[in-house]
Amino acid sequence: MEYIKSKDIYLLMRDILKLIHPRLMEHGSKVAYMVALMLREKGRYEPFELADISMVCTMHDIGAYMTEEGKINDMLRYESRDSMAHSIYGYLFFKYLSPVPDLSKVIMYHHMDYEQLKKVDYEFKDVAAYINIAEKMDIYSSSMGSQFDLYMFERMSGTKLSADGLSLFYQVAGKYEIFNKIKSGEYKEELAELAEFMIFSNEDKKKFLEMLMYCLGFRSKSMVVDNITTVCVCEELAEEMMLPPVEKEILYYGALIHDIGMLAIPREIIESPRKLEPEEVKLLRTHVDIAGEVLKDKMQSEVSDIALAHHERGDGSGYPRRLKDLQMNMPQKILQVADVVTALVNPRSYRKDMPSEKVIAILNEEASRNRLKKSVVNTFVKSYDRIMDRVRQEAAEIMKMYDTLNMQYELVSKKYKI
Ligand SMILES: [Fe+2]
Ligand SMILES: [Fe+2]
Ligand SMILES: [Fe+2]
Repeated sequence: MEYIKSKDIYLLMRDILKLIHPRLMEHGSKVAYMVALMLREKGRYEPFELADISMVCTMHDIGAYMTEEGKINDMLRYESRDSMAHSIYGYLFFKYLSPVPDLSKVIMYHHMDYEQLKKVDYEFKDVAAYINIAEKMDIYSSSMGSQFDLYMFERMSGTKLSADGLSLFYQVAGKYEIFNKIKSGEYKEELAELAEFMIFSNEDKKKFLEMLMYCLGFRSKSMVVDNITTVCVCEELAEEMMLPPVEKEILYYGALIHDIGMLAIPREIIESPRKLEPEEVKLLRTHVDIAGEVLKDKMQSEVSDIALAHHERGDGSGYPRRLKDLQMNMPQKILQVADVVTALVNPRSYRKDMPSEKVIAILNEEASRNRLKKSVVNTFVKSYDRIMDRVRQEAAEIMKMYDTLNMQYELVSKKYKI
């Protein structure tokens, strides 16, 4: 997939998760920076392995988006005392949904005492041990300010923290002036430079983008269901309308990421059971521009142009750019129809799902007013039952993984009384 470079897939993942909670992602970036320097100094991994590892280090607290909702600002608490929930959810998330399941246990073990960790048979346990050190360094140095002492964890050496890891950290902290660079923000440039060497295969890039779609579940599970439905409707329509393979592919990626800006919108607005106030509608609509900001300079425009036009309408009444029919291409128009279909066929917080006659009537009305593309709507209406049967089947298949992960989390949390 040439639509996005390896480095940019890393930056895109980071910037999208930043939308939910900037401080948590900044913590992830600082930890990734410190661990990358430690591993590079040690010279144990090849650059392509470091790419995967840096991605996992940056996302090591990804579980907290789900498990610490509302308490996410109290990082010191769940990072030092109640670390079980976010470690397990993050582990399951990477195990089931990421292209690097082998590294998922790094997340599971990132708070484990070294005394225990050293007995575990796991190839990447040193990475988990280093994250444990780096994250303590970050959390305590940022909360204690000038009171912070680099050697304050020395009493944990060999028990809670790895002794080798600690001495390696002291070494790189001095050599690379880690804390000065973190303070000045210079580490961000260095991390971006490290990202230049990242190499992800096309298959991995695809899986990371799919993983991003599941991140929508941190805001609301129904958004994941909706996104999967939209992607499947697009695929069916593209097939039915015999789009060339390249257009099918860009439509797939455009549909996959079209609503990622929603991660910046408060849950109360997304799941509101009542009609939104004009101010709230305005805020909700910013999700397209927000996505535009994040995708800019990372994703090739042929893909992002599809994603960013999903609320445009042929008569110029859409948003944010009020584009007209002639200014848009077929993949864009297919996504617009698929997005409306999804909104109609899936249940909403304020109403149940809609019978097919009503869905068809609304689509035809939109097409007759030149808001949705007539040929796309006709194709959909003509094969409504067949398309929707396949979409439901495919969507259920894709949701299986996500549901398994959430079920397993519930089982484990009951067992450990999280
Ligand atoms: Fe953590
Ligand atoms: Fe952390
Ligand atoms: Fe949207």
